[in-house]
Amino acid sequence: TYVIAEPCIGVKDASCVEVCPVDCIHSDDEADQYFIDPNECIDCGVCAEVCPVEAIFFEDDLPEKWASYLIKNREYFENR
Ligand code: SF4
Ligand code: F3S
Repeated sequence: TYVIAEPCIGVKDASCVEVCPVDCIHSDDEADQYFIDPNECIDCGVCAEVCPVEAIFFEDDLPEKWASYLIKNREYFENR
């Protein structure tokens, strides 16, 4: 899965949402960033290419300092 990390916080540009072919990137007014549903993401990578702040990474390429975002993205979808 791809993962959205810290640079999205406070930016929420949403260009990624426009290009995702499976519509698996979501947020809401209370969330400070967008999140990728790991059960729906097909690893196409187009979201990462369009994000203006380079917030999106393939899980294996996620910088170590943002490792917690793998869980943070998954948890957003757990009670929905
Ligand atoms: Fe959507 Fe592709 Fe990004 Fe996964 S990698 S969130 S399928 S645009
Ligand atoms: Fe955030 Fe970048 Fe998408 S800022 S909403 S991950 S385009």
